[in-house]
Amino acid sequence: MSYPYQIKNIEQYHHDYKRSIDDPAEFWSTIAEHFTWKKKWHTTLNWNFSEPKIEWFKGAKLNITENCLDRHLEKFADTPALIWEPNDPDEHHRILTYRKLYEKVCQFSHVLKNNGVKKGDRVCIYMGMIPELAIAVLACARVGAIHSVVFGGFSAQSIADRLYDAQAEYIVTCDGAYRGQKDIPLKSVIDDALIGNRIVKKVIVTTRTRTPVSMIKGRDVWWEDEIKKVETLGLTDFPAEEMDAEDPLFILYTSGSTGKPKGVVHSCAGYMLFTTYTFVNVFQYQQGDIHFCTADIGWITGHSYILYGPLSAGATTLMFEGVPTWPDAGRFWNIIDKFKVNILYTAPTAIRSLMGFGLGPVHGHDLSSLKVLGTVGEPINEEAWHWYDEHIGKKKCPIVDTWWQTETGGILISNLAGITPAKASYATLPLPGVHPILVDENGKEVEGNNVSGNLCIKSPWPSTIRTTYGDHERCKTNYFATYPDLYFTGDGALRDENGFYRITGRVDDVLNVSGHRIGTAEVENAINMHANVVESAVVGYPHDIKGQGIYAFVIYQGSHAQNTHGTAEMIRKDIHQTVSRIIGAIAKPDKIQFVSGLPKTRSGKIMRRILRKIAEGETENLGDISTLLDPGVVEEIKNGKL
Ligand code: WTA
Repeated sequence: MSYPYQIKNIEQYHHDYKRSIDDPAEFWSTIAEHFTWKKKWHTTLNWNFSEPKIEWFKGAKLNITENCLDRHLEKFADTPALIWEPNDPDEHHRILTYRKLYEKVCQFSHVLKNNGVKKGDRVCIYMGMIPELAIAVLACARVGAIHSVVFGGFSAQSIADRLYDAQAEYIVTCDGAYRGQKDIPLKSVIDDALIGNRIVKKVIVTTRTRTPVSMIKGRDVWWEDEIKKVETLGLTDFPAEEMDAEDPLFILYTSGSTGKPKGVVHSCAGYMLFTTYTFVNVFQYQQGDIHFCTADIGWITGHSYILYGPLSAGATTLMFEGVPTWPDAGRFWNIIDKFKVNILYTAPTAIRSLMGFGLGPVHGHDLSSLKVLGTVGEPINEEAWHWYDEHIGKKKCPIVDTWWQTETGGILISNLAGITPAKASYATLPLPGVHPILVDENGKEVEGNNVSGNLCIKSPWPSTIRTTYGDHERCKTNYFATYPDLYFTGDGALRDENGFYRITGRVDDVLNVSGHRIGTAEVENAINMHANVVESAVVGYPHDIKGQGIYAFVIYQGSHAQNTHGTAEMIRKDIHQTVSRIIGAIAKPDKIQFVSGLPKTRSGKIMRRILRKIAEGETENLGDISTLLDPGVVEEIKNGKL
C-alpha cells in the first residue's frame, strides 16, 4: 500500500513542487487532510521571517500520538511498530506492535501524570537506546509535556545547563546504558547534574544495566514500580491531551557559533506533517517495509526518522541500542539480515569507519532485502558513496543523500528514492514546500546554475524552527537576521548545471565531527576552564573517518615542556578530562598543539582563517599576515604543527 501523498514519478515531483511553491497553504492543507485532528484549522499559514513568526494550521487541535498510535490501531494493531535490537547480539530482541506500543505509552502517560507532569511542563530525557526511551518521548507528547532529550554522551555539566535553560522539573533516565563494550552509568551522571539544582522535582529511573544507583527518597522513583501501580488499576488507555497546532512539542539543544547550545523548539502540527511527508517520500516507504535508522534518539535524526515520521506513517521502525563495530564490524549487516531490513539510513562517518574494515564483515550476511539506502548528517565523499552503493546496495538500491538540520525538523534537500535522480555527494533537489536560494556575502541572490553561495531558505516549510527556548531574540539573530527575510542555514552550497545542490559544509564556526554538531566556541570555553590554560583557539581539520577532527591551539601557563604539571602528553590528558567534564567525550580535541601566542589582529581578534589553514596542512598560502599584531607567531605555529 502506498500513501495518498506519495510522489510516484518525476513528473509528479515537478508538478507537486511547483504547486507547493506557488501556493504553500493550499498544498499543505491538502496533505493535512490525511491526518487525525481533534479540530481543524482556520488559517493554514501565517508568517513573517522578520520577527520571526511562523504559524501553520492555526486554530487546529491535535495530539501527535493519536497520529502515531491510535489511528493505526484499527488496521495495524498487530503490525510491529518498533523492533528493538539490543547491544549484545546474544540478548533477545523485542518487538512492540502498534497495540503494545500504544498500551505502553498510555501506561507511562499515567506514570507521568501521577508524578505531577502536566501540559507544558519540561521533561528532560537522558537514556540509552532502549524501547523505554521511545515510550517516554511519546508519553510526554501524549500528556502535552515538552520533552528535551539529551544525548547519552553529554556530561553532567551539559545536562545541568540544559535543565536550567529549559527550567525542567522532571527527568526520565535509566540506571545505565550499554554501548558496545561500555556500560555508561547514566543515573549517576544525572545525580551529578542535580547537585545544587532546586527545580527538578522527580526523577523516574528505568532499569537496564542494573548498575548500583543511589535513589533519593521523595525525588527518585523506579519506572517499574510506577508502572506496577498503573497495571494494578488495569489502566491501558490514556486520553491524549488536546494540543494547539502551534504548542511546542519538544526542545532539542544544538550547537551554534556561540558558546552556549540553543534549545531549538518544534511545534506539534507542522513537525508532524513534515516528518511524515518527507519520510514517506524520500525513502519511498511502502507498507510492511522495515526501516532502520541508525541514529541516536538524542539527535534530531532519531526524533524525526526513528520515531515521529515512521510511526505517524504506520511504519515499522527498527531501533538499535549498540554501535556498528561491536562485537564486530558486521553488526549492521547482521541486523539487516536478521530482520530483513528494507531501508537503511545512516551517517557517512559510519560508512567510512566500516569501509576501513574491508569486505570481510559484509560477507556472509544476506543484504538482499535492502531497497533503499540513505545518508545524513554531513557531506558524503564520493569514495564512501560508491562503496555504499556497490557493497551494501549491490548497485540496485537508490541512495538518498538527505540534507537538513535540527532547526529544519525534517529533510529539506534530497533525491527521492528511485523517483528523482541521485548524484554522488549531491543532496540534489529540494523537497516540495522548500524554497532554497544561494546568496553571496552581501545577501544578494546568486542566480542561475553552476554557482555557489551561502544556502538560505526563502519561505517557511511546516517544520521550521519556531523559537529558541526562552530567548526568541536569539532565534532571530541566529537564523533570520544575517540576511533579511531569509532563513540562513549556516551551510555553503553549490548548484550544478542541472540545478542540483551539493552541500559543501558549514560556513560558520560550527564543526561536524562524526556527524555531531559542535561549536568551536563551546570547545574553547571548555578548554579555557582548565586552570592553567591562558587562551585557546579551536578549528576543524579534515579527518578520514570523522569527516572533521577538532584541532586546538592552546596557550598554557608557563612552558608546557618544562612544566611542574608533567609532560605535554599529561597536560593534554588533563585538558581532555576537562572537556569531557564540561561538554562530554564527543568534544575532546583530536589534536592539541601548545603555542606561545595566537595570530591576532591589532584589535585582538583571532585570525581563525590562518589557524584553519595550518590545521589543514597548508603552509604556503596563508594570506596576508602583515596586519597581525605579531606575525612571528605564525612561523612558530607552522613549525609546531601536529
Ligand atoms: C550537515 C542533522 C551535507 C550540515 C540532520 C547541517 C549535511 C548540519 C547533510 C546539521 C548532508 C546534514 N550533506 N551536510 N546530507 N546533512 N549536514 O543539526 O552542515 O545535527 O547544517 O542535523 O549537518 O546538523 P544537525
